[in-house]
Amino acid sequence: MSSVTFFRGDTLPLEMHKVRIVQKLNLPNIEERVAHISKAGNNTFLLQNRDVFLDMLTDSGVNAMSDHQLAAMMRADDSYAGSETYTRLYEKIREIFGMEYFLPAHQGRACENILATTLVKPGDVVPMNFHFTTTKSHITRMGGSVEELVIAEGLKPESSHPFKGNFDVDRLRALIERVGPAHIPFVRLEAGTNLIGGQPFSLQNAKEVTDLCRSYGILTVLDASLLQDNLYFIKKREAACKDMSIRAITRSMSDMVDIIYFSARKLGFARGGGICMRDEALCLKMKEYIPLFEGFLTYGGMSVREMEAIAVGLDESMDEDIISQGPLFIEYMVQELQRRGIPVITPAGGLGCHLNASEFVPHIPQSEYPAGALAAAMYIAGGVRGMERGTMSEQREEDGSERFAELELLRLALPRRVFTLSQVMYAVDRIDWLYQNRALIGGLKFVEEPAVLRFFFGRLAPTSEWQEKLAAKFRADLGDSL
Ligand code: F0G
Repeated sequence: MSSVTFFRGDTLPLEMHKVRIVQKLNLPNIEERVAHISKAGNNTFLLQNRDVFLDMLTDSGVNAMSDHQLAAMMRADDSYAGSETYTRLYEKIREIFGMEYFLPAHQGRACENILATTLVKPGDVVPMNFHFTTTKSHITRMGGSVEELVIAEGLKPESSHPFKGNFDVDRLRALIERVGPAHIPFVRLEAGTNLIGGQPFSLQNAKEVTDLCRSYGILTVLDASLLQDNLYFIKKREAACKDMSIRAITRSMSDMVDIIYFSARKLGFARGGGICMRDEALCLKMKEYIPLFEGFLTYGGMSVREMEAIAVGLDESMDEDIISQGPLFIEYMVQELQRRGIPVITPAGGLGCHLNASEFVPHIPQSEYPAGALAAAMYIAGGVRGMERGTMSEQREEDGSERFAELELLRLALPRRVFTLSQVMYAVDRIDWLYQNRALIGGLKFVEEPAVLRFFFGRLAPTSEWQEKLAAKFRADLGDSL
């Protein structure tokens, strides 16, 4: 990709697109924001979107679509069976990943359900660089367990390692030797490792992992939901790949693994998902679950319009100008925060910017959910909705005790092509203000705690009146500003 050099030397992330459809935003005042977060049980998942100014909850299903995607949606073929839309999507997937079989599913976790139901038996162990919430829940639901084998650097909040999502191959080998290949239904490689800050793995590491698994006859599964960011980082950070096209990097990665699944809410800028593979017998095992759980084999629970959008979105994801936007904006935001001394995960990853709550609010014990408290405080400070990625997102142990997360993060996702640089700078300003006033932020405690995926629906209360005090300080510092 050729890049633009600025005359005065500063480098800004420059969009290679223009905006043609907009949505009006609303920013409630700070007293209203305190009331809204309280009504939402201090859980940003329970806020109403009309009360949110910058929705940085997720990059899932909220990326801006292109003109070509919208145009393609108009030609969707609605037939229940044998739809032309399916054929177009299937052919695009075969072209990009080189895999013969494709099973459509309504989103990423549906693929995980089918993979776990088909492959995981009680007592099985599924190694992965790092877990994702829904992945782990599906594996444990089948009586299996997850082993996280990310390199030690991956769990260091601040680092200069370009591939913090890499597997520790020695630990993987030791685990296989200890557990035995018969008890490992598959090894899962998560591209753009979500819960440690959207951190990529290198193509070299993927090769070492998949070579090792092949030598033991163990299947490898690529979770490609965040593949587009990972591809960009491979191109930019892995010297051996700098002259490869995004398409060529994608193909060499897909040639290494047995199965690829993805959430098209992320990969492909649309909504939906699917599982691709080369092996017919494997496909036959999973196939029967599609009509059972998802929908007929040519739509798998997706709307045909979304399927058309995925086909175009996947093609566009092979364009470096398109996939660079997210990582470049995130990098800019991370650098601006670092300049202000704010603890943030480095190097910048994909998906979003991740504040390190353990250092932002070190006075809040993990038992009072520092990342959750920071998420509530961030909404109060700026109407910015982030997502807790820490202890609240973990499941309690069988005996009811807390499982403290390795990292306490507040994720501020940057859905692709959605926010402008001035909106990013507004978020940086409010994070800065919050950091200067961090001593005012207090903890949270559950008042309603669901047993499964508690972070989605759980309700919490502040452990003191810290939210009112934070709002009063905002008024004192910023007058009648929204
Ligand atoms: N795998 C990864 C790496 C993901 O990030 C997600 C979703 C899934 C699987 C599940 O896909 O949502 O389509 O069912 N991540 C979203 C997020 C929810 O906000 O990070 P899904």
